[in-house]
Amino acid sequence: MTTTLEPNIHPDSQREVEILAAESEIYHPSPEVVAQALIPNYMDLRTEALADVESYWDARAQEMVDWFEPYEKVLDDSGKPFYKWFVGGKTNIAYNALDRHAKTWRKNKLAMIWESEDGEHRTYSFFRLWQEVNKFANVLKSMGVKKGDTVTIYMGRVPELPMAMLATAKIGAIHSVVYGGFSEQSLASRIEDAQSKVLVTCDGAWLRGKTVNLKEIVDEAVRRSPVVQSVIVLKRTGQPVTMEQGRDYWWHDLMSLPIASPKCESEPMDAEDPLFILYTSGTTGKPKGVLHTIGGYQVYIATTLQYVFDLKDEDRYWCAADPGWITGHSYIVYAPLILGATSFMYEGAPDYPYPNRWWQLVEKYGITILYTAPTAIRGLMRFGDAWATRHDLSSLRLLGSVGEPINPEAWRWYHRVIGKEQCPIMDTWWQTETGGFMITPTPVVPLKPGSGTLPFTGIEADVVREDGTSCGPNEDGYLVLKKPWPGMARTVWGDPERYIQQYWAEFAKQGWYFSGDSARKDDDGYFWIIGRMDDVLKVSGYRLGTAEVESALVSHKLVSEAAVIGVPDELKGNVIYAFCILNSGVTGNGDLADELKRHVRTEVGPIAVPAKIEFVDSLPKTRSGKIMRRLLKAQVLGQPIGDTSTLAD
Ligand code: WT7
Repeated sequence: MTTTLEPNIHPDSQREVEILAAESEIYHPSPEVVAQALIPNYMDLRTEALADVESYWDARAQEMVDWFEPYEKVLDDSGKPFYKWFVGGKTNIAYNALDRHAKTWRKNKLAMIWESEDGEHRTYSFFRLWQEVNKFANVLKSMGVKKGDTVTIYMGRVPELPMAMLATAKIGAIHSVVYGGFSEQSLASRIEDAQSKVLVTCDGAWLRGKTVNLKEIVDEAVRRSPVVQSVIVLKRTGQPVTMEQGRDYWWHDLMSLPIASPKCESEPMDAEDPLFILYTSGTTGKPKGVLHTIGGYQVYIATTLQYVFDLKDEDRYWCAADPGWITGHSYIVYAPLILGATSFMYEGAPDYPYPNRWWQLVEKYGITILYTAPTAIRGLMRFGDAWATRHDLSSLRLLGSVGEPINPEAWRWYHRVIGKEQCPIMDTWWQTETGGFMITPTPVVPLKPGSGTLPFTGIEADVVREDGTSCGPNEDGYLVLKKPWPGMARTVWGDPERYIQQYWAEFAKQGWYFSGDSARKDDDGYFWIIGRMDDVLKVSGYRLGTAEVESALVSHKLVSEAAVIGVPDELKGNVIYAFCILNSGVTGNGDLADELKRHVRTEVGPIAVPAKIEFVDSLPKTRSGKIMRRLLKAQVLGQPIGDTSTLAD
């Protein structure tokens, strides 16, 4: 057993009440939805797949993607938990996403439709996107990027972000995308950890009519992490920036050089070669670089997207996440392109300049599938129905939710007001580490508001007690995955031991993956996610470690110790409360609290800013010195503090 679990108090007892009320509320798929479904026999497939997982994934690997050379073995579990999939196969995900479509009728099909916050719009056919990616791939090569090198990408939500990812993959390099909402220290430590010599960024990004100075943040991050040798800067906002000679280059200058030829062969890659690193928060210390490899990942994300969102050539699919998170990697960039689908990408916020922005876009582009997060749904719901009902949303046929548990009230609103009771909602539970959907319905599965329903084909998930025995109906326990799957993360970049400790140590004897979540199954075997059991917070669906916020706080010269907890919030799911011990002689006040908030904003990013900072003289700790956040949380929520036998004093 690891010591990572100091189980949090039940995140909110509200969830308990909601689950009990929604368990018997069943929404059956309409006959029209079932008749249209690409995979009508999904329930039978689930049984079939579990009976022979390897043959099942073998068939999907043949069907979903092309291989330059066939694999010799579907699954190699000899080094578990370091599983290998499609061993010996040669492939390239950019080939499967672009090259192969650019040679068929899809050449002329729209791959991407993009609209900016201020209404500029662009479209890219598969042919054009393929050419742009080829050009940028040649630019990267000319900057000395080689197979196995890492490229850090730090940009706003612009089409050039997916292009940079695809170009990196095309030449066999590894991308590390850092979400544009992160700030100096977060970016610096990710560059450092990945040892990226090349960084791709923008001068700035638009956010609610204002610009964010991405290049300025980059300059500071590179000062802290001098491993970077070249910075490629896309001109997006046109704001003034400093360009350092010999280090910084404009994207458009490089793309107009003769080396930026529109022809570039996709590098033949081994199925188990790394595709990307994506940093995510864990229980302790710095964010860890979750590593995904090419072969299994591409098969897994294409299968899940096709089955769950029933993606067809006629669709206009909109995943409203940011490409900088796993949702964007898998389901904005790679899977829709692999399937040859048309995606829509939007730069701005859901409610800017008005709360009808999204609904206007759905109407304008005839969006058929919308995939977003509960926090966005709740945010739009609070403005009332009229912002949505004045738009024609009849093109929509499927809706999706991801990132945190969706409260049944928001689910019902989404279903009634946005989906007009015609669109099934795909509540997809998964993680950065799982690569793709794990517990999810498909359009033919009966739904319950707030439940992700059942594990996907080939996935064996369960809710278990500490000793590994399965929990009974409605009993909360550890959410585990009992069988490997092709989309699973392969390791933590540069720290395989941490990979074992974090995911495979809790149930080492059984060889199961522990997700870090608590969940329960109801009488019908439907899964209900309760929340994180570790020191990971979900704030507006964003994942943050208490440790990241705490280390930002203590990096301020007046703070000597800090503890951070998540407190349930109607809109954001959770907000951050921070408790700080100041250096002796310093007294806390409102001004200092504001200064500390600004400090966290520049160190980590706006998403990490505490809603409240309280100054205290001491923090509750175990005798071994671990902060007992559970007690702080109980105090804030006015709940019983439970077992305090390990408390130091
Ligand atoms: C954590 C993973 C996977 C893409 C976005 C988040 C929570 C995610 C759901 C859902 C309940 C969910 C879990 C999980 N989570 N989706 N549909 N219902 N909880 O990826 O940032 O790696 O976070 O998000 O707690 O462990 P991530």
